[in-house]
Amino acid sequence: MALREILRMGDARLLRQAQPVLEFDTDALHLLISDMLDTMLTADGAGLAAPQIGVDLQVVIFGSGERNPRYPQAPPVPRTILINPQITPLGSAQSGATLPEIEDWEGCLSLPGLRGMVPRHQRVRYKGFDQFGDPIERVVDGFHARVVQHECDHLIGKLYPMRMRDFSQFGFTDVLFATPDGVAPD
Ligand code: NI
Repeated sequence: MALREILRMGDARLLRQAQPVLEFDTDALHLLISDMLDTMLTADGAGLAAPQIGVDLQVVIFGSGERNPRYPQAPPVPRTILINPQITPLGSAQSGATLPEIEDWEGCLSLPGLRGMVPRHQRVRYKGFDQFGDPIERVVDGFHARVVQHECDHLIGKLYPMRMRDFSQFGFTDVLFATPDGVAPD
C-alpha cells in the first residue's frame, strides 16, 4: 500500500493536458493504479485522476460499488479504471432531444473542504480502456455521468471551479451544509 500526496489547486501540474497511455498491462501502470486506489480510498474520494498525484497520464479511477461517505445521497457507481477516455454528451434516450445541463454539488480532493455547484451533461457515452488494454464503453447518466466528467476534466487541466457559473454557490462544506448539531460532511 502506497499513499501518494494529492496535489492541491494552485499547483501548475493540475493544469496540464495529460499524455495518453501507450502501453497497457505493464508493472508501472499496475503500480500507478494500485497507488491511486489506495490514495482515493483513504481519502474517501469518489474518484481520482493521475494528474492529482502529479502523474502526467490519462488515467482516472472512480466509483466504489458502494455508497460514498463524502456523498451519502449519491447512488453507487461501479469501480472503474478508465484510461485514454473520450466522453460524448448524449441527448434523451427516448426522444434524442438535447438535454440541458444539470447543476449539483461537487467536491474534489484537490480542493479539500470546499464544494461548488457545477453544471454537467446529464447523459454521456464514455469510451476508453482498462489497465489491461481491454475496451470500455458505457452510456451513463446522473451521478455516474457527473463523476466521469469531473475526473476526465482533470486530464485536460480543468478543476470544477473552472466549470462553475454561479460563485454564490461555492464555499466551505462545513459552512454550506452546517446542521443544528454542527455535523457536516467533509
Ligand atoms: Ni477532482
